[in-house]
This record gives sequence, structure tokens and C-alpha cells, in this order.
Amino acid sequence: MTMTRRESLTLMGGAAATLAIGAEQVQAKTRAPAAQSLNALAQAKGMRFGSSVAGGTGGGTWRNPRNAALVAAQCGVIVPENELKWQAIRPSATSFDFSAFDGTADFARRHGLALRGHTLLWHRPKWMPGWMETHDFGARPATAAAAMMTAHVKTVCARYNGRMSSYDVVNETVLPEGGQLAQTRLSQAMGGTEALVDLAFHTARRAAPGVQLVYNDYMSWEPGNELHRKGVLALLEGFRKRGTPVDALGVQSHLIAPVPGASQQREWRQFIDEVVAMGYGLVITEFDVRDRELPADMALRDRVVAETAKAYCDMMFSYRQLRDVLAWGLVDPFSWLQGFEPRSDGLAARGCPYDSNFRAKPMREAIAAAFAAAPVRG
Ligand code: XIL
Repeated sequence: MTMTRRESLTLMGGAAATLAIGAEQVQAKTRAPAAQSLNALAQAKGMRFGSSVAGGTGGGTWRNPRNAALVAAQCGVIVPENELKWQAIRPSATSFDFSAFDGTADFARRHGLALRGHTLLWHRPKWMPGWMETHDFGARPATAAAAMMTAHVKTVCARYNGRMSSYDVVNETVLPEGGQLAQTRLSQAMGGTEALVDLAFHTARRAAPGVQLVYNDYMSWEPGNELHRKGVLALLEGFRKRGTPVDALGVQSHLIAPVPGASQQREWRQFIDEVVAMGYGLVITEFDVRDRELPADMALRDRVVAETAKAYCDMMFSYRQLRDVLAWGLVDPFSWLQGFEPRSDGLAARGCPYDSNFRAKPMREAIAAAFAAAPVRG
């Protein structure tokens, strides 16, 4: 479906539409933060706000008019939730199918939204396409694996040349349990994970010059992530030593409410300090808040989710190396959290900035307030 910006705004709920139209018409300086879009608040600080969108026929997609209007009104950048993953675009070892993602890219173009590419290599066996399990890499497996990785990166980058602002070149290759690198049949054929991920980055740099290249992972600030963080730091150090072209760490930011204790927060800050000390930029790539451990009461949950979001954003936004902040979906009912680790009481998760009626929740205000308080990027 093709909608003009005006049409999409009229499809929005009344309050949200008023906010969005207001954001277009009134000068930034004269408005309270709540009246501005999240991306306008981000832009005032030299940042961008965005979200993932799904491109299938389900609800949380740009095909849903209300969701599409909300994304167009609030975001400056989008990322496909699933449509660029190997499972989506590689029906076989020798073919590509971009039909699902092309719709998303077109949605971005129509609404003037920047695009992030997620991901050129989700380096876990579970997230590889099924055919990888039995693929025959032949008599010279390292050569065949390198050719497969190179062709993949080149094909995607060439197709979307000039349209991507950033790629999650490699996703989740550090194992959270011990910090070692994951192996897949592709890395085994290649003769090692380091060689494979380095090749992915080098190829991306050549195929997409000037585009931000990101290593993306889900190490987080809650207890239990110590070895994951250690493994990510070791990987990032290795990139620097070997001259692998990586520009930024993608911090997925699937948080678990409530806010962790002060010593946890200190450890997290130390981790981010080490990352930026190595010269890496930062991207919040997949922000949402899991409320599984909170009581059922909705108002209470919304408040604690918002407090968690605020504490986290305040800390992260204090780093000028962070420019892009993307939510993993804007609207609760379409969030992957409904299926991933559902609440034991069966209630729907409330970890996104907007509710099932597309109404802003306290979490939305928390993000807005954090943007308003963030230092300006040069
Ligand atoms: C998730 C999607 O949201 C789901 O729809 C899909 O079934 C599995 O993947 N880390 C990532 C994302 O890097 O790609 C994941 O997305 C969420 C966790």
C-alpha cells in the first residue's frame, strides 16, 4: 500500500495524529518535549530515533496503516526485523530472494526514512538457513566458505547501494555463557570464526564505502552478563589489533526491568567506557524492556518499565559516541517479546513505547525526556 504522509497521519489515532501534525507545524523551541516526535527530539541533539519494522503480513509491519503512520511520524530511521536475515533472503546456497525486504526499503524511501541493514551474518547455527546444515563445501571448504560469505555481502550491499546508513555486519557471535566465539558450519568450513567475521567486515567496507559497520550483540547491564561483556571486549580488541574495519558496537538493549543496582550500573559504564576508549561508536539497535519479572498491575509495570528505560537512556545518551537509537518495535502487541519468554501469568508484555491502541506510554515519555536531557553531538 502506498500512503502519502498526510494520508498516514489521518489514519492515526486522534491524540497521536495531533502530536505528529503539531510536530510538523510548530517550531521546536516553542514546544514542550511531549509534543515533538521522538526523532525530532533526537535530531535536536544530533541524534536519530528509529524502530524495527516487520515486512510480513502480520500486524507489526509497515503494511498496518496505523503502525506505518506511527513509524513515519516518530522515526528517522528503520531496520527490518527479519527480512534481511539469511533465513529470509537465502532460499538456497546459490540464490537470493529480496522480495520481502524490498517492500520495507520502499516504505523507507516513500517516507524519507534512513535504513539500517540487519544483518549480514547472524552467526549462530540456529539462525542460519536450513540448507546450511547439509551444504557440501567441497574439496576446498575454506575457499568455498569465503566465496559464499563474500558473495552474500557483495550482493546485499550492491543492491542497496546508497540506501543504507549502517549495517549490523555481524550479529551475536560471542557466546554469553563463556564469552567464546560461536561456530557454525560456515565458520568451520572457513577454518575459524575470526577469519569469517573479519572477511565479512572487510568485504562490507569495500562493497559499502562510507557506511557505518557495526558489530551487534546483546550483552547487557543486568547481572549474569559479565562473561558476555568480556567476550565482546576481547572481540573488539581483536578487531583493532588485526585492523578489521568495525566502526561501532551495536548494543541491542533488550533490557530486563527493574533498574539493576548501583554496582551493576558502574560495571556497565566501565564496559561502555572501554568500548569507546578503543575508538568505537555506539548504536542502540534493538531497544525494549522485558517486564516478565514485574507484578501484573499494569500501571505499576508501565512505571517500572519507564524508570528502567529512563535510567538506561540517561546513561547511554551521555556518551556522545551514541547517535542512533532504535526500538525493536514501537507498539506492544506487535513486539517479539509476546512470543519470546512470555510472562508466566499469561498477560501481554508491555515493553514498547506505545500500547495496543497506539497510545504513548510512560516509556515513550521516558525516552523523550532522556533525549531532552542529552548533550548535543557536534
Ligand atoms: C528476532 C525477531 O524479532 C523475531 O521476530 C524472530 O523470530 C527472531 O529474531 N536479537 C536480534 C534480532 O539480533 O534479530 C532478534 O529478532 C531479537 C534478538
